[in-house]
Amino acid sequence: MSLSGATLQRKKPSGPSTGGTDRAALLLAWYDRHRRRLPWRALPGETTDPYRVWLSEIMLQQTTVKAVGPYFEKFTARWPTAAALGRASLDDVLRMWAGLGYYSRARNLHACAVVVAREFGGVFPDTEEGLRALPGIGPYTAAAIAAIAFDRRTMPVDGNIERVVSRLYAVEDALPKAKPEIQRLAATLLGPSRAGDSAQALMDLGATICTPKKPACSLCPLNDNCAALTRGDQETFPRKAPKKTGELRRGAAFVVTRGHELLVRTRPEKGLLGGMTEVPSSDWLAGHDDTAARKQAPVFKEASRWQRKVGVVTHVFTHFPLELVVYTTSLPPRTRAPDGMRWVSIATLADEALPNVMRKVIAHGLGE
Ligand code: ADE
Repeated sequence: MSLSGATLQRKKPSGPSTGGTDRAALLLAWYDRHRRRLPWRALPGETTDPYRVWLSEIMLQQTTVKAVGPYFEKFTARWPTAAALGRASLDDVLRMWAGLGYYSRARNLHACAVVVAREFGGVFPDTEEGLRALPGIGPYTAAAIAAIAFDRRTMPVDGNIERVVSRLYAVEDALPKAKPEIQRLAATLLGPSRAGDSAQALMDLGATICTPKKPACSLCPLNDNCAALTRGDQETFPRKAPKKTGELRRGAAFVVTRGHELLVRTRPEKGLLGGMTEVPSSDWLAGHDDTAARKQAPVFKEASRWQRKVGVVTHVFTHFPLELVVYTTSLPPRTRAPDGMRWVSIATLADEALPNVMRKVIAHGLGE
């Protein structure tokens, strides 16, 4: 069948709901006219190189198309085949990868190339199952390579495709519960052939037209039959379950002054509020024990008389709410700061990297 994109793009006469097959054809016709030119994509008539497809899919995991472009060019110029990459040293691969992030991906990339080079003579397996068995290839990537490189009739569903499909069918279930349903519906958009193009058409549609905000529905080849567009609530899809906030954690914070100075320390580089300034505090725990928390107060040679401030400071982090009781004490001049802590002038606190929760604690501790 050789229908031109223009013919297929014309709006369909009204009638009962357009099924997946019609949509599949409309989608492919749109793709033939509007596909993005990406370095790893074969042009019409060119043969798809599984090595290039695999390399691009690994690079595109958690990285944007724009960021991947130059890396893809550098890699393929230096290592034009899986066999060549499999002979490279891991160090060279990691050096070339520098800047793309998530270095375990580079390690797996190299491990995969070594397996393909040594065990498969440099040729990628051509089934989803065979691909899944390789290092660094999960279900999504296996489906993407199988469809794009080997025209296997399977639909890889990424975030763009999730959005397009959840809108087309107004999928009411929230992610992640909706994933199997979206996967099933996405597969109905596969035509009898060209699975890779169907998948990439949906990816491109999601990236350029069916965008998270302000989708350009008037330009969409599927706008005749989009359930969300009919209702006018496209932007609300895909539905997302409200973020679960963790259990309330509690702790004690210690606001210690020495004249016009405050005792602070720097949080560890890694983890919550990494590298930021804080007043000393106990652990923040769901099973809080006030006596245990008090025992984590900083210790000074000079006697310190702790006073508990009335009330608590509350703060909501992304993953949990926090409630801190605040203890205060003031110490004589020249009192030494305990190891790992320092005195800073209260007047210059604005220069410190103080997270909001600590601003609240200090205001509470220094307040009347
Ligand atoms: N994201 C992941 N794989 C892609 C592909 N083949 N084309 C465009 N975007 C992608």
